Amino acid sequence: AMARRIDRPVVLVGMMGVGKSSVGKRLATLFHWPFVDADDEIERAAQMSIPEIFATHGEAYFRDGERRVIARLIQQEGPNGSGARRVIATGGGAFVNPETRSLILERAIAVWLDSDIDTLIERTARKDNRPLLQQGDPRETLTRLRDERREAYAQAPIHVVSGSGPHGRTIAKVLQGIG
Ligand code: S3P
Repeated sequence: AMARRIDRPVVLVGMMGVGKSSVGKRLATLFHWPFVDADDEIERAAQMSIPEIFATHGEAYFRDGERRVIARLIQQEGPNGSGARRVIATGGGAFVNPETRSLILERAIAVWLDSDIDTLIERTARKDNRPLLQQGDPRETLTRLRDERREAYAQAPIHVVSGSGPHGRTIAKVLQGIG
């Protein structure tokens, strides 16, 4: 019911491993909205995996593709001329790019999901598909990126701290933030 009043996309931002995709899928289910993972859309558009894009073209190229994909996802209309009602999970660096961030802030509702470093380490360790974690110590990299990005993430109007456990509490807090 809550989501019916909202006619803008809900965009989840925050660090790798915080649970943007899992939380996003569950929110979308609750809202009866589509869920879109921006990273998946970038891979589809490039016909390459994210590690391959980074290795072949570099991070700047990835960021540019990311901005274009997110712009498209945000601007797409829903059925019957309705607003773009969808939940979008973004990659952890998307909202740090000033152009991508402005676009999201202007046209969507941004929700910053954050959690402690141990939770990020545990959740990112489940998959080996993140080029920024393929070198060096993940704890150091995640700590540094989280510090560097905090100021950008904090521009999201809604801030939700996610615990290490199941996402139920997080979902409730997001709903409260949006409501
Ligand atoms: C990145 C996060 C990744 C992906 C890419 C870069 C980042 O997405 O976009 O590896 O800069 O934090 P997730 O946040 O879904 O892991």
